[in-house]
Amino acid sequence: MPTVYFQTFGCQMNVADSDTIHQLLSERGFVLSESPDGSDLVIVNTCSVREAAEKRAKGRITEFANKKSGGQKLWVTGCMAQRLGDKLKEQIRGVDLVIGAKQMERISEVIDEALPRNETTPAVFNKSAVTDFVPVMRGCDNYCAYCIVPYVRGREQSVPYELIETAVNEKIARGIKEITFLGQNVNSYNCEGMDFPDLLLKLANINGLERIRFTTSHPKDCTEKLIGVIASSNKFATHIHLPFQAGADRVLALMNRKYTSGHYRKLIEMIRKKIPAADITSDILVGFPTESGAEFKETLSLVKDVRFTTAFMFAYSPREGTGAASMKEEISKEEKQARLAELITVQTEITRSIYEDSVGKELEVLISGKQEKRDEAWMGQDRGCKRVLISCAQVEAGMILKARVKKSSGMTLIAERIL
Ligand code: 5AD
Ligand code: SF4
Repeated sequence: MPTVYFQTFGCQMNVADSDTIHQLLSERGFVLSESPDGSDLVIVNTCSVREAAEKRAKGRITEFANKKSGGQKLWVTGCMAQRLGDKLKEQIRGVDLVIGAKQMERISEVIDEALPRNETTPAVFNKSAVTDFVPVMRGCDNYCAYCIVPYVRGREQSVPYELIETAVNEKIARGIKEITFLGQNVNSYNCEGMDFPDLLLKLANINGLERIRFTTSHPKDCTEKLIGVIASSNKFATHIHLPFQAGADRVLALMNRKYTSGHYRKLIEMIRKKIPAADITSDILVGFPTESGAEFKETLSLVKDVRFTTAFMFAYSPREGTGAASMKEEISKEEKQARLAELITVQTEITRSIYEDSVGKELEVLISGKQEKRDEAWMGQDRGCKRVLISCAQVEAGMILKARVKKSSGMTLIAERIL
């Protein structure tokens, strides 16, 4: 049987897209390979969000191109594939096919064109896992000034409910217990009058779907109705990822984020009131053009006040074609890195102390699998975003266990089952 090797960069949407492509290829007989060496097809799914992500992807593609042998094919997919198109084939000799992120809408036809279904016997697609992704909307209409996503992923498009339900049921049939519903801007989901909270309520009624997560949320679309829905059923994870990006209102306005830090703080207050145990996490961007030292301090104070469980923190990287790319870049690389380092220090301490505070608390842990090479040591995740290790017998992946936290170790909680 032909084999395919995937290297996926970037966000969870890319992970979901690689899976979709894998599934379509398995209909044509392809099985997954653990190594690029000797596989018939290598696919690099790329990210464009920062320059460093593109550099890394280009490095890998070049490496694969140089090692190609025996009729191996090399495909590049995702956001960088969309941004650079067939220019990539000229830049890196050996790339056979470029499939941009926007083509995911009609990926089945794209693959049909590239690999006609001859007399191939389908391979079984039986990815076994406890947790998986289902995209419910794609694209973004927000045009935050720093962000390439609206250009490479296109306009917002919501997936009709029937298609989402079919995808969910197909996964439940394979043993999946938890699904993370994905969108670049998931809470602006809107399809034939169904908004995102309505969608969540319908999803919570699907039998066999035991835990529901979603990402990414935009503060401007995070409504009281949405928070009320999350608080209404314990099928919903108590994890809200709510990127705030910057603490100063002038910077937020320049970024075109459409909210103020005051509004963001109010949202957090509302979430904490309705879901006291919530893990709130964020994306934070430092060194946006013209951000002053005092404005950066406003980001730090927001971080200290809100106390995110964890955060993804980035130094601004100019992306060609975006609104901010034409702004004069006034902040040196060194200054951006210094701000980022200071922010990471502050957030790391907050994360440590929040994990520490979990000791003694009771959790519901979804077991995802065994810890490698250790008997009776299981890995899982609580209803929030924390990783948990549990030592106990008679457990299997997919079970939800009650446990009490004994110890916090870095970014992992060590817990004991409560019977
Ligand atoms: N430079 C640095 N970080 C960026 N992000 C988006 N665009 C850029 C950029 N040009 C960050 C934002 C976003 C996350 C996915 O990546 O924080 O929320
Ligand atoms: Fe990018 Fe802003 Fe859209 Fe998020 S909401 S994908 S940061 S443009």
